[in-house]
Amino acid sequence: MSVPGSGVAPRLPGFYSLIALEAAGSTNDEARALAERGAPAGTLVWAKRQTAGRGRRGRPWESPIGNLYCSVVLRPPVGPAVAAQLSFVTALALGEGVRESLPPGSVVRYKWPNDVLIDGGKVAGILLESQIGEKGLLEWVLIGTGVNVASFPPGTERPATSLSRAGANLSVVDVLTAYARSFWTWFVVWERDGFGPVREAWLRRAAGLGEAIEVRLPDRTLSGTFDALDASGSLVLLTSHGRRTVSAGEVFVGPRAARHAMGNG
Ligand code: BTN
Repeated sequence: MSVPGSGVAPRLPGFYSLIALEAAGSTNDEARALAERGAPAGTLVWAKRQTAGRGRRGRPWESPIGNLYCSVVLRPPVGPAVAAQLSFVTALALGEGVRESLPPGSVVRYKWPNDVLIDGGKVAGILLESQIGEKGLLEWVLIGTGVNVASFPPGTERPATSLSRAGANLSVVDVLTAYARSFWTWFVVWERDGFGPVREAWLRRAAGLGEAIEVRLPDRTLSGTFDALDASGSLVLLTSHGRRTVSAGEVFVGPRAARHAMGNG
């Protein structure tokens, strides 16, 4: 394996097979191609930069050198609804991987379903993509992770930040190593014990829990109090029309602000 840039190889648990690239269009696309050719669980694609990085809802993900872009192939024998819980596993792994490197008083929060915030700014995003087999179970799922290590894009409507801005002095290799180790720990917990422990740990740092939030759905926006995360990972909202369970949507916490988030937002 050649390691882009630093030449320092990440020390990862044996579960992973690392493929390190100078550049990729999107590490999710590289991982997808490998998964389709039968790459085993634990195949981890890391690129120093991306030329066509993708975020959720078709948004671009700016991907200059200095930040982390990686995608891991997994093959859990579950359906897509259960696999969606892996975004919570990933957010936890990212948060716990970097938390101890932050200055005292820094606040790490998880924003439903899968953003990681430091002091209110988005520092990482997660993009899950999967292939369903004939019996409705996954052939594979990819977890693509982008972490703003050295920089974050200017001009996003919702606040963004980087680890560097937040005061953590970490290299990309440091962050990849911390994330991959922490992910492996939480993935084993999830496989063995189910969503319960992941859900509890995520809720301890959930952004907006118990507060007024808005959830943008494809056809409308719901307002209410973020009451809970249910046993499957859906958001439970108390609205003036009663209790609503939301399985997909975009959450806005705090004052009504940005309506149309831009790339990396
Ligand atoms: C989001 O919209 O918040 C998700 C962003 C996910 C970005 C990562 S970077 C590594 C992987 N490759 C991509 O093209 N996207 C994901």
